[in-house]
This record gives sequence, structure tokens and C-alpha cells, in this order.
Amino acid sequence: MDTITISKIYSKYTHFYDYLFGRILAQGRYKAIQLMNPQPGEKILEVGIGTGVSLPSYPRYSRVVGIDICWEMLEKARRIKLSLGLSNVSLYRMDAERLAFANGRFDKVIAAYVITVVPNSARAIMEMKRVCKKEGEIFVLNYFGSKDGVLSNAISSIREKLGLGKPLNPEKILEDANLKILEIHRVNFLNLFHLIRCKNA
Ligand SMILES: C[S@@+](CC[C@H](N)C(=O)[O-])C[C@H]1O[C@@H](n2cnc3c(N)ncnc32)[C@H](O)[C@@H]1O
Repeated sequence: MDTITISKIYSKYTHFYDYLFGRILAQGRYKAIQLMNPQPGEKILEVGIGTGVSLPSYPRYSRVVGIDICWEMLEKARRIKLSLGLSNVSLYRMDAERLAFANGRFDKVIAAYVITVVPNSARAIMEMKRVCKKEGEIFVLNYFGSKDGVLSNAISSIREKLGLGKPLNPEKILEDANLKILEIHRVNFLNLFHLIRCKNA
């Protein structure tokens, strides 16, 4: 599925996204920001920030940049930023596979429930690595699925058609990008989701 189609799909999800995926995926987002432990003045990039459900969880002393491909999702994030007066947050429409930031610009980079959605996951990971400082940290939170077995295969094709992600081997893609995996946690419903913390070593 290409970026334009994915963006169109999420523009349709915008109105009910928070009801459907806000609460149910909240534990993973909360745990990711807890592990990230943002420090005063640190620059954080959230790739595929969506409706900005994570924004209230960041401390106000950290500078947060959120990007997303879908205008409608971003518009909701903008409303959260405005209503909470989050002057430490900046939002941009941008493709995760082509980040318009200089090398090493961010201390920490996170993609929550995004990496399996983008057309070229390896390229998005490489971009996250490029804009992350050396020795900085990268967090990937996702359900990675599988195609083993008839049921998993059926679920995977439905997820893909709905733009909710394709099966992916997270360890492989992170190791291929030369990222050092520091820890992996299982989170959310039935511990089906992985939260992976890596170092840009
Ligand atoms: C499942 S949602 C996750 C949203 C949010 N991170 C969360 O925690 O709920 C996936 C998000 O990735 C965005 N997205 C998909 N492809 C993208 C791309 N190539 N570049 C940037 N954002 C993308 C979608 O617009 C959507 O907002």
C-alpha cells in the first residue's frame, strides 16, 4: 500500500481513532515515554504522531516534534496542543521515509504503532536513525504480527487491507539498521505488542 492510500485511510479513521485505539493502546505509549525518561532540554521526535494522544504524557520541559503524513490526524494533534497550551510541541506534515531534519538533530526518536504501517519500514527506521544523535535512543512500539498459520495469515491480510500494518520481524529490521537493541518489553492487550528500546551506537 502506498503513502497516499495510507494517508487517505487514516483521514477516514481520524474521527473515531481515539475511541478505538486511544485507550486500548495507551499502556504501551505510557510505558514508552516512561522508559524514554525525557530530560530537560532534550529534543524528541515522534514519528507518525497521529491524533497526538501521547502529547499530554511528555514533560513540558522536553521539546517534542511530531510528524505525520495525514493532515486530518495532525489537525487533531494541533487541537490538543492548543487546548493544553503545549508550547514545547511542534507539529509538521512529513513522510517518515523522508524526514526533513538534519542528521543527529534529536536525542530520542519514537515510532508508536507506525513502523508496520509505512510502505517501506526499513527506510523509515534508517531515517529515524539518521536524525537521531549518536548514542541517542530509538523506541519502536508495535504489534508485529506473523503469517504463521491459517488464522494469523487471515488476521494479517485483514490488518493490511485496513492499513493497520503488515507482519514484520522487528529484530531483523533493527539489526539491519545497525541499531543496538537494549531491551524489549511486551505490552498492551495479552502482551501482544513489543516495545523495543535501541541505542544509535
Ligand atoms: C496506527 S496510527 C498510530 C498513531 C499514534 N502514533 C498512536 O500512538 O496512536 C499510524 C499513524 O502513522 C501515520 N503514518 C502512516 N504512514 C506514514 C508515513 N509514511 N509518514 C508519517 N506518518 C505516517 C498515519 O497517518 C497514522 O497517524
